[in-house]
Amino acid sequence: MQEDSNTAARVEASLVERFGERLPVDPSLAGLDELARIAGHRVHRDFLDRGVEPALLRLLCACALSAPSKSDLQQADILVLDHAEPRRAVIALMPDMPWLAQAPVLLVFLANASRTPELARLREKPFPNNHLDLFFNAAVDGAIVLTTFMRAAAAVGLGCCPLSAIRDQAARVSDILGLPERVFPVAGLCAGWPANAGHITPRLGLATTLHQDRYRSGDLARQIDAYDRRRAAAHPYRRQRAVERFGDAAFYGWSEDKARQYAEPLRSDFGAFVRGKGFCLD
Ligand SMILES: Cc1cc2nc3c(=O)[nH]c(=O)nc-3n(C[C@H](O)[C@H](O)[C@H](O)COP(=O)(O)O)c2cc1C
Repeated sequence: MQEDSNTAARVEASLVERFGERLPVDPSLAGLDELARIAGHRVHRDFLDRGVEPALLRLLCACALSAPSKSDLQQADILVLDHAEPRRAVIALMPDMPWLAQAPVLLVFLANASRTPELARLREKPFPNNHLDLFFNAAVDGAIVLTTFMRAAAAVGLGCCPLSAIRDQAARVSDILGLPERVFPVAGLCAGWPANAGHITPRLGLATTLHQDRYRSGDLARQIDAYDRRRAAAHPYRRQRAVERFGDAAFYGWSEDKARQYAEPLRSDFGAFVRGKGFCLD
């Protein structure tokens, strides 16, 4: 009972850090351990010099691939990058993340919409469904499997960081990994035994992102400002982005950082890559 109260208190404390709001947690609730891990989520980019057993990795992948799948189509795969050469080649395509070289595990979560039209071919049926929904469903399945892998990894004490940077040069990654038509990377992911506790990143308040019955825009400018201040009080940015273009801001919050980040075109060639993989995005 004492343990349940402590776990409930941990969930509450994590959510205060995350949202700046206290949500009461009933200590008699089932599954508090799992809630504590979910509420306390943080990415990890620093790892101990200790490998992850292949059998454990396979177990976690099997758990991740147990995730729900749209229409039971099973359009997500995991690619384990094990051998030194393809691993090095893929990491070299993400030069802004030198810490990746130290990560014991590197995975690529794939959206795989190649099997579904193949079923039609094998069973001699028409396939009038190569449109945006095919791409979207496979991407969603890939993202769900990635999230489920992170949950499974956290349960055994591993830390992870997803990597959308793997799509910065999607065509080259695709060549290195030998990805066929209608298979594309949703995200990479590095994992290992965490070298430190990491920290909880505050999120936008629930007044902004949790809606009841009807979408409510609210006073977004004020809410973002409040979030910027709350977040900066806990974890101020250590570096400002693109100072040469935008100058040195007296107050540098999340909204300034994201606005600067998205003031540059990012992966504007991804649509062409996906179309080149045989998807029709109409
Ligand atoms: C789909 C996805 C892609 C991501 N890609 C990267 C990446 O390329 N490089 C990186 O350092 N972090 C990446 N991240 C981690 C985010 O930066 C991190 O989740 C975010 O800063 C919030 O921190 P938290 O997850 O600890 O709450 C990614 C996260 C997600 C969900």
